[in-house]
Amino acid sequence: MIPYSTQNIDEDDIQAVERVLRSNYLTCGPRVSEFEECLCSYTDADYAVAVSNATAALHLCMMALDVGPQDEVWVSAISFVASANCARYCGATVRFIDVDPHTGNLDHVKLGQMLKDAEQNHKPLPKAVVAVHLSGRPCELRYLQNLKERYGFYLIEDASHALGATYENTLIGKCKFSDVAVFSFHPVKIITTAEGGACLTDNEELAAKIRLLHAHGITHDPAQMENPDMPGFYYEQLMLGYNYRMSEMQAALGISQMNRLDSFLQKRRELARSYVDILDHNLVKLPVADIPGFESSWHLYQIQVEHRNEIYQTLRDKGVGAQIHYIPIYRHPYYQQQKYPEALPGAEYFYEHTLTIPLHTKITRVEQSMVATIIAAALDKFEDK
Ligand SMILES: Cc1ncc(COP(=O)(O)O)c(C=O)c1O
Repeated sequence: MIPYSTQNIDEDDIQAVERVLRSNYLTCGPRVSEFEECLCSYTDADYAVAVSNATAALHLCMMALDVGPQDEVWVSAISFVASANCARYCGATVRFIDVDPHTGNLDHVKLGQMLKDAEQNHKPLPKAVVAVHLSGRPCELRYLQNLKERYGFYLIEDASHALGATYENTLIGKCKFSDVAVFSFHPVKIITTAEGGACLTDNEELAAKIRLLHAHGITHDPAQMENPDMPGFYYEQLMLGYNYRMSEMQAALGISQMNRLDSFLQKRRELARSYVDILDHNLVKLPVADIPGFESSWHLYQIQVEHRNEIYQTLRDKGVGAQIHYIPIYRHPYYQQQKYPEALPGAEYFYEHTLTIPLHTKITRVEQSMVATIIAAALDKFEDK
């Protein structure tokens, strides 16, 4: 099976992890801070906290922003469920924002209407909005920032797919338009630490709170303690936190992968351009192309076709690991039980027509051509009917 995505591990990565295994620290050592510095220097963010996965990172953002049962959090309807679950962990009510039917990114105009409607009808406004940069294509951040300022919500970028993506020549993670951005380093993502994630922000206070919460809410810093004059062994738990730490092996792999990030991005962008050359534009709607300053990280290559389910099945039957990203979150039984009856038209259209086809740093041009040929032949059959 040609996977839709996969990790790229080389000898340097293996040696980096092996060195940690032979060292004194498997956790709570120097590698995690070094990885955090790599993330900051690459994205130009002021602060990074590396954690066990992006789901944990999203949960930490919610906790650090004091999201609770009294709050609403508004979330892009098309995403992995973790983008919404983080708000439910804190007891908040989730409302879903419809998406652009072509990109799957949240529809900022519809969000503006929802906010206006809530304000006019004295309904709750969101405490936070989770904007997902689907497939690595950034949302309209400048527009979202204007709404954030107008209606006073926190803007969380779920940038799980978008390491290396740019918006107005600024790398995602810099948080120029938002409060915090979350990344995932799961093996299918742009770089991997096996499991892993990070919160990036320019807000010192928020970063400190996320850092405290990711390790049980415990501080070893006398300046933060109620009893600062205790002996060296002493520590205090200031809040109810979790163990969401990243290990040293994960961080070492992350540092090594960061050295290769530019080559990964270059390769993904080349492969995306090569699909433009080989897919049949009459039958397949292609994803939005990059323009200078607004570049996707091309985590996913998502096309739109009629007869999506049949094309999906044909590809799978012929050994191509096509995928669907994603089922609208409100369709899941868990969210239906939370009373989300309304289907959102943009999300429904996106779900019905969109197909992820393989794009990763190890796919060959020959394999890409094979994928394009299978799709063309399958669509031709429908044309003939
Ligand atoms: C958009 C999005 N958000 C969050 C997550 C959760 O990431 P993780 O697996 O690192 O917890 C994923 C994972 O696929 C994702 O795609």
